[in-house]
Amino acid sequence: MKLKTKDLLTLNELEKTELMGIIDTAIKMKRDLKKGISKPLLKNKTLAMIFQKPSTRTRVSFETGMFQLGGHALNLSADELQLKRGETIEDTAKTLSRYVDLIMARVYSHEELELLAKNSPVPVINGLSDFFHPCQILADLMTVKEKKKKLAGLKLAWVGDGNNVCNSMIYGCAKTGIYINIATPKGYEPNQEVIKESSKFVEVSLSNHPETAVKDADIVVTDTFVSIHHQTTDRTNDFLPRFQVNSNLMKKADPSAIFMHCLPAKRGQEVTSDVIDGHQSVVWDEAENRLHAQKALMVALLRRV
Ligand code: CP
Ligand code: NVA
Repeated sequence: MKLKTKDLLTLNELEKTELMGIIDTAIKMKRDLKKGISKPLLKNKTLAMIFQKPSTRTRVSFETGMFQLGGHALNLSADELQLKRGETIEDTAKTLSRYVDLIMARVYSHEELELLAKNSPVPVINGLSDFFHPCQILADLMTVKEKKKKLAGLKLAWVGDGNNVCNSMIYGCAKTGIYINIATPKGYEPNQEVIKESSKFVEVSLSNHPETAVKDADIVVTDTFVSIHHQTTDRTNDFLPRFQVNSNLMKKADPSAIFMHCLPAKRGQEVTSDVIDGHQSVVWDEAENRLHAQKALMVALLRRV
């Protein structure tokens, strides 16, 4: 499969068929890997990974994925690059793309990522910005497809902060036909442009009522109340106790509902331990699927060039 887009910055760049193609390829790659089959589809390819912020899953899944595909990944902390001494993002993009085939970056400001992509002839992948986290949603949709055997027509409830993960989730639901009910405290709504754009394709409902959002949901999702770019502010009082996913709230969802969280989780805040460790939780499969989904994504992006 060849993608029309050079970069993946939001998830909205992917056409519906491209998104479904990546998910299906990822499911096949996962199955193959468990049978010991791993094709060196990215032999001699190098991925540069720039991190302005900490990461466990993104870093390890990209590096492992590249290794499994026969390629190589470079972990570059932004503090150790000349960026730290004032070299511009534009010059960094132009330089790195002379060495590597692919760049993944985790940044504070989404605008920096756009600059990186604009100045890089090689594909750029968003490994999380203040506005979007598309790789997470590739893995999430893959997980939903594995568990529910379909995507279109399902009901997803997002409870908590309308953050970067939520913005990409809205795009993901719009492209795959999943109805999305979002419950946030007032002032914590997701990006208005994303909602406006996505509402053309699927029903996106916004409220301040977690119980209404999760009613009969097939999938219940939450994320931290305090994202990395909000670390200096104390926002938890605006969320607790109403916006916590606990067993009482899960009871309002469909009995076969699954619980998802991109991780890392703050147990006792956005989710209780009995839910995240409970029988409805699929968070470890979701974390694993970052590996498979990103492998499928990298292969698809590099087929284009
Ligand atoms: N979900 C996620 O992106 O995890 P990390 O911050 O550990 O990469
Ligand atoms: N919303 C969280 C996701 C972490 C993977 C953050 O930006 O910190």
